[in-house]
Amino acid sequence: MEQKDLMEKIVSLCKRRGFVFPGSEIYGGMANSWDYGSLGVELKNNIKQLWWKRFVQQRDDVVGLDAALIMNPKVWEASGHLATFTDPLVECNKCHARFREDQINTSAPCESCKSKDGFSEPKMFNLMFKTFIGPSEDQTSIAYFRPETAQAMFVQFKNVLDTTRKKLPFGIAQVGKAFRNEITPGNFVFRTREFEQMEIEYFFAPPKDDEEWNAQFELWKQAMIDWMKNDLKFDMSHVHELEVAKEDLAHYSKRTIDFEYEFPFGKKELYGLAYRTDFDLSNHEKASGQELKYTDPETNEKFVPHVIEPTWGVDRTILAVLCEHYREEGEEEKKRVYLKLPPRLAPYKVAVFPLLKNKPELVEKARAIYNELKEHHMVAWDDRGNVGKRYYSQDEVGTPFCITVDFDTLENDTVTVRDRDTAEQERIATADLVSYFANKLS
Ligand code: GAP
Repeated sequence: MEQKDLMEKIVSLCKRRGFVFPGSEIYGGMANSWDYGSLGVELKNNIKQLWWKRFVQQRDDVVGLDAALIMNPKVWEASGHLATFTDPLVECNKCHARFREDQINTSAPCESCKSKDGFSEPKMFNLMFKTFIGPSEDQTSIAYFRPETAQAMFVQFKNVLDTTRKKLPFGIAQVGKAFRNEITPGNFVFRTREFEQMEIEYFFAPPKDDEEWNAQFELWKQAMIDWMKNDLKFDMSHVHELEVAKEDLAHYSKRTIDFEYEFPFGKKELYGLAYRTDFDLSNHEKASGQELKYTDPETNEKFVPHVIEPTWGVDRTILAVLCEHYREEGEEEKKRVYLKLPPRLAPYKVAVFPLLKNKPELVEKARAIYNELKEHHMVAWDDRGNVGKRYYSQDEVGTPFCITVDFDTLENDTVTVRDRDTAEQERIATADLVSYFANKLS
């Protein structure tokens, strides 16, 4: 399958089946804004819950936080975002379309109007979204939507430390929205102006040498690989590590690697891992006048901790998961499309069908099974069309198992369970269904 086709197929499937809709569509849409529909929100929640379980609940050294999106503007002064969170912007001399200088060839014709009139000198453009707090719209009421979730973890470092009594090394994790006034958003949910991040700030004592912080860095690198391999079930040959060159490092970073994924539109950043040194805590300490130090309980030594930051984009994870697990099999009549999603990510885990919807005894039995399984899993109900079409429909949204209640069910209390990936069917006693799925979906 051509990669361009794959992208078109995914965008179309997402719209058709309620994963992702164009934002504000009835008003002609709003460029590069997307809304997650009924199945998209399930997939998204599953990803976030799995991440939270792996990185917060199953670890003793990471705790959670859920902070306000709009913070005191002084945060962004201290973090360096007001001064340096910028992209170089150039404008076409003819049509005035604006581009990121580093994403176009400024000696080529304008992508928008094709003129060869050239571009303006680059201007630095701050990516933070501005708003006003309260009724007056002046300099004193300006505030910003957070461009990363990270800063709240630094600003709340002391409160978290005091209330959890964690010892170094430990981390704070947060999942939430971030906003950037991107000059060139695009590629579906890959680059948008409003997106979600899952981030961890992992604090540790100032390292004695490079080896010491590199050891932490390597541990987190492996943790990120384990997530992609074990939870997202990625073929890791589709993921590449990029050591970000010194001149391209963000203002706070001493070392960054990007995990790049082979998206249909090219190899692009999926996740990042950065060594932020003590940059953020030190700057917040200076700017706020509040001490953000840690006291070693054994030596009584006081210091500002250093930080490793692994960061994951939720929307890019969704797109990569869809690209990774989209499958087409067979030709023409026999062709089937399925999402080979890891069961824990699948919006529905099981679908229940009565063979015929006009046979009350089948419907009643199927309803009872549906209601019982709903106590344990997200379950779909489908009684439209024929069973073949219902399988096709569930395959397309990645439902791992379908149950059909047929006339044999009424005779011997067994049902057909069909596996999404193999399309094979087996008969299972209805009394065993709960334990069968507990086992299969664990
Ligand atoms: N706190 C560090 C930080 O924000 P980043 O590399 O700028 O680092 C982290 O962003 C992750 O957020 C990226 O790896 C990507 O997955 C996601 N991300 C960044 N900008 C995005 C955008 N405009 N649209 C969608 N996801 C984005």
